[in-house]
Amino acid sequence: MRTSISIEPFDQNDTPKLAAVWFEGWQSAGVNVEGAVTLAQLGARIPEEIGNGWAVSVAKLYEEIVGFSALKMEFRKLDQLFVIPSAQRCGIGKVLLDHAKSLSPGELILWTAVENIDACRFYEREGFIAGAQAIHEKLGHPIKSYRWRAGTL
Ligand SMILES: CC(C)(COP(=O)(O)OP(=O)(O)OC[C@H]1O[C@@H](n2cnc3c(N)ncnc32)[C@H](O)[C@@H]1OP(=O)(O)O)[C@@H](O)C(=O)NCCC(=O)NCCS
Repeated sequence: MRTSISIEPFDQNDTPKLAAVWFEGWQSAGVNVEGAVTLAQLGARIPEEIGNGWAVSVAKLYEEIVGFSALKMEFRKLDQLFVIPSAQRCGIGKVLLDHAKSLSPGELILWTAVENIDACRFYEREGFIAGAQAIHEKLGHPIKSYRWRAGTL
């Protein structure tokens, strides 16, 4: 399966598809937040975030977008990483994460939900070290920081 995965820059014509991938991926994480996160909200955020500097890469499996990463290069921050539920646990997240590491030489930071045990385990396996905790400023749930430094994995 892995040989059929390609990583490509985001094409803005794919905004609705990207929003759907983000929404499905977000729902699958099962994180309890204040209020609902809707498909429409995520769709509206994509051009906004790209305007604010997001560098988006998509993972395609047989030409279909099945995951994406969004980097804030200025802060060496992996802002989003999502894979659709039907394509999870096949190595696509690792391919996207390795690509993000290659775009952010030296180090990469991210925040994830404390209760998202699967994602925490995934990042720790990929060489990220847990740091401070905080409360998500918009959604109100506990979040945890992670940092990866080149040479550690
Ligand atoms: C977290 C997430 C990005 C990881 O992506 P993924 O594509 O599922 O990740 P991978 O397949 O590379 O690795 C995940 C697991 O699959 C396993 N795996 C990888 N390749 C595999 C294969 N060929 N066969 C079986 N298992 C495999 C890995 O060992 C790993 O197992 P783990 O559960 O013990 O950690 C993805 O699951 C996701 O989008 N989750 C929901 C949203 C989310 O939590 N995003 C992060 C928010 S910051």
